[in-house]
Amino acid sequence: MTASNYENLLIEHAHPGIAILKINRPKALNALNSATLLELRRALLSLAQDDAVRVIVFTGEGEKAFIAGADISEMKDLTPGDGVGFSQVGHEVAKLLETMPKPVIAAVNGFALGGGTEMAIACDFIIASEKAIFGQPEVGLGIIPGFGGCFRLARAVGLPRAKELIYSGRKVKADEAKAMGLVNHVLPAEGFMEAVLVHAKSIALQSASAVSKAKTLMVEFTEAMGLNTKVDAESHAFGRLMGSFDQREGMTAFTEKRKPEFHGLREADLKSN
Ligand code: CAA
Repeated sequence: MTASNYENLLIEHAHPGIAILKINRPKALNALNSATLLELRRALLSLAQDDAVRVIVFTGEGEKAFIAGADISEMKDLTPGDGVGFSQVGHEVAKLLETMPKPVIAAVNGFALGGGTEMAIACDFIIASEKAIFGQPEVGLGIIPGFGGCFRLARAVGLPRAKELIYSGRKVKADEAKAMGLVNHVLPAEGFMEAVLVHAKSIALQSASAVSKAKTLMVEFTEAMGLNTKVDAESHAFGRLMGSFDQREGMTAFTEKRKPEFHGLREADLKSN
């Protein structure tokens, strides 16, 4: 896949196993209009199927913004029906980020406002540049978060903090975002992407099928589910990986004091079926 497949996205395969997916509308601070959301949906479906991709790094082109929100100039004249449709496409993208069978790291390089914070919190975790700014300013535009902020933000920072942020529209700098648990790491702006790739590489080196299984379970566990159901699901998933190629290779490599050579995700799936 090359960047030319998309008008508003760039996809770079800079390192084995890692795809960098960038929103490419820097003049509009990478605001999400419908065309970009549809392209994102297509790109994520394709990256989910691409066995050569083990980890996705999701970011924004340019120095200034990750995503400055949904596109206000497009939303300004929407009817209520159009608004539902617009929100639904945003939800589909966020759901793909959250549930696709491989990790997606949000590399927040600047403004992540409204739909920007919402897309970031749908990813597996966030690494922020020291220049990152988060917030849900929708109430100041007479609307509410429409791409999952009303439920995912509470999950990330706790309900009282999420309520304060959404009711006030207050913007939060990277350090505060880290202190409230929204962000895993805050890194210098200079050399930001290289430093994010170090984290991505540490995941890409692992067994893709084991990482994928862990993600699927953790996503399921965040839905309402009793403790016994979670224990049962994890025990069975754990057991099913025993005897897989990657399990044997990983443990043999450990005992032989060498690095393991894991299968790709779909290859591992085919072998285990
Ligand atoms: N939609 C459309 N265009 C946007 C945009 C957005 N969300 N954010 C920025 N832009 C555009 C600006 O209109 C401007 O375009 P022009 O050069 O053509 O005038 C360009 O990007 C640069 O922006 P600014 O000149 O405003 O840059 P700044 O440095 O002065 O300010 C900012 C940066 C604080 C991020 C400011 O642009 C801003 O407040 N943007 C809007 C942020 C926002 O409210 N986001 C939430 C949108 S609602 C939403 O996301 C709903 C949802 O949940 C789905």
